[in-house]
Amino acid sequence: MAHLLVTGGAGFIGANFVRRALAADPGGRLTVLDALTYAGNRANLAEVADRIRFVPGDVCDAELVDGLVRDCDVVVHFAAESHVDNSLHDPRPFLRSNVEGTFVLLEAVRRHDRRLHHISTDEVFGSLPLHGSERFTEDSRYDPSSPYSATKAAADMLVRAWVRAYGVRATLSYCANNYGPYQNVEKFLPRQITNVLLGRRPKLYGTGENVREWTHVDDHNDAVLRIVADGRPGETYLIGSGAQWSNRALLELTLSLLGRPVDDYDTVPDRPGHDLRYAVDSGRIRRELGWRPRHPDLPEGLARTIDWYRCNEWWWRPQKDATEARYLAIGR
Ligand code: NAD
Ligand code: TYD
Repeated sequence: MAHLLVTGGAGFIGANFVRRALAADPGGRLTVLDALTYAGNRANLAEVADRIRFVPGDVCDAELVDGLVRDCDVVVHFAAESHVDNSLHDPRPFLRSNVEGTFVLLEAVRRHDRRLHHISTDEVFGSLPLHGSERFTEDSRYDPSSPYSATKAAADMLVRAWVRAYGVRATLSYCANNYGPYQNVEKFLPRQITNVLLGRRPKLYGTGENVREWTHVDDHNDAVLRIVADGRPGETYLIGSGAQWSNRALLELTLSLLGRPVDDYDTVPDRPGHDLRYAVDSGRIRRELGWRPRHPDLPEGLARTIDWYRCNEWWWRPQKDATEARYLAIGR
């Protein structure tokens, strides 16, 4: 079986991917490269620690990356700075990890002729009108609104250019918002769930009318496994469950699942440049690779996710106060 190199494999989606890839291929070889930033945590990989090689290190470290890419067959590239609010406050680490890191990786896969799957986000396409049925497609125009999405867009452009200019065998995928276990408490759902579990009031940005399409992390990772196995080099794939919820409705659902009154939250000042709506047309991956979300029922998936946070306070509690202090400093 192919030897996978997973960058960012100690983060939320990457660690869930590692567990899923090993479940799908129990004898498979897998190496994780992760810089263990605030968002990376080796505990995320504890269950599979004896089945993987873990290399602490930076995707911008060209020498390290060269050796790891040479020794693998396929690179799955999750490593990135991933939070919009952090990028608005301090964009520099986003340029380094997301743009330079992808460049370093591309040069290594070019030198060693390795297959690459690059993980992007629907946020590179910017904002859809709030009301309407329009969805992003593989042909949507890039129109990023935040330093996070701009650096992800820049990384995508590098991948596309390396495919055309050097024949690099790369695929790209753009997934909608993910949720599930091991998501950092800075993100919307974990922030609100852990606030409620601690007896604090959730924080809704602005009017809360912004819409996101919520996809369970296992469904995202199943799609990535399919692309790695059968995706066409040079091709792009959009991934999304179809479950579109306004932030307000999702917060109300979260509160009711936690047994709280649905209006027991605070509104805080809106995020600058806050994209109104994301929605993706995932027809291509459904048609061409037979992918379907196995967890399309958001209330059911959210209830399981809430249970996970309830049972794993040891995992999120150490980061909670520092995260909230950062939000307080920016007034959100
Ligand atoms: P995350 O912040 O939870 O994890 C990122 C991981 O990358 C961490 O383990 C971190 O230590 C590592 N990392 C960061 N910079 C690094 C560097 N320079 N070198 C090596 N490792 C580094 O992020 P996530 O939510 O798991 O997102 C993973 C990927 O999926 C990102 O590329 C993100 O853009 C993309 N994505 C995320 C979502 C979402 O809803 N979270 C949706 C679509 C796409
Ligand atoms: P987030 O998880 O940061 O994902 P993204 O901005 O990449 O979509 O936020 C999801 C949505 O929730 C987004 O519209 C911003 C909003 N939000 C809040 O209303 N309150 C919060 O505390 C956070 C973190 C986000």
